[in-house]
Amino acid sequence: MWNPFAVEIAGRGQVHPAHGMEPAELLNGFAQQGNVRCDGVLRLSPKGGIDIMSARPLPMQLDLTTQRLLLRPLRAGDADMLWPDITDPEISRLMAWDAHTTKEQTAAFVENEVARRLSGNGVTWAILMDGRFCGIVSLIGIQRTHRVLTYDKAELAYWVGRSHQRLGIMTEAGRAVLAFAFGQVGLHKVYVSHFAGNEASCSLIRGLGFRYVGTQLDEFQKDGVWHDHVMYELLDREHAAIAEEATTP
Ligand SMILES: CC(C)(COP(=O)(O)OP(=O)(O)OC[C@H]1O[C@@H](n2cnc3c(N)ncnc32)[C@H](O)[C@@H]1OP(=O)(O)O)[C@@H](O)C(=O)NCCC(=O)NCCS
Repeated sequence: MWNPFAVEIAGRGQVHPAHGMEPAELLNGFAQQGNVRCDGVLRLSPKGGIDIMSARPLPMQLDLTTQRLLLRPLRAGDADMLWPDITDPEISRLMAWDAHTTKEQTAAFVENEVARRLSGNGVTWAILMDGRFCGIVSLIGIQRTHRVLTYDKAELAYWVGRSHQRLGIMTEAGRAVLAFAFGQVGLHKVYVSHFAGNEASCSLIRGLGFRYVGTQLDEFQKDGVWHDHVMYELLDREHAAIAEEATTP
């Protein structure tokens, strides 16, 4: 299925400066108009615009269901739903953001996530169980290509409100997002990482079947403290093997 925003620009767009293209050259790349982005095979047209020869936008159906959960993309007006969990410093402690202190911050976050989805660059879902908000899970930084290289990869990120932790919710949501990433989106690799010492995230990641890649020492600072950064990845074939093992009696 085609993302309607991508269809609107399938024909003309602007060449992103990072992809300096020669006229008549066929390249993997992306076209961007405002915050709308379209990945695919591009050709610079003689008049300076671009033709998108084939595009790979996000699927249109983005609601995911599991045994207990509904995952639906964040949408405008969700700021209230994210409170008070998003104000909890214990949730953000080992993450790249600080607990929100105003609704405006949360509204801006939601707006940013909606724009990200419309750009085809990623999706952030609200996780709902029996209609109650539990947390969020994201597939972000979808990268198809860079110059002549094909990547087809994206990053997994997540948090669950404290009252819903240790119930297997993120394991269930993570499995659904991985199936979506390797299935409908057709990714080759999903990667994920955590601050060293985040035992919950470490157990979750290993339980989802990710392969440990390595640890970067003192990769970033938060609140004046340097943190090691632990990285993992999962290939589509590794994911398929895990899925097959799970269904083998
Ligand atoms: C990481 C997080 C998303 C896990 O969500 P969750 O729904 O509680 O996870 P699950 O219930 O599916 O449990 C997954 C695994 O983590 C383990 N786990 C969960 N919370 C844990 C904790 N506080 N300490 C140690 N292990 C924990 C579970 O036992 C399970 O391991 P197992 O399969 O070996 O039994 C949640 O703890 C969280 O939101 N933390 C704060 C935000 C954060 O750190 N996000 C990740 C940034 S990389």
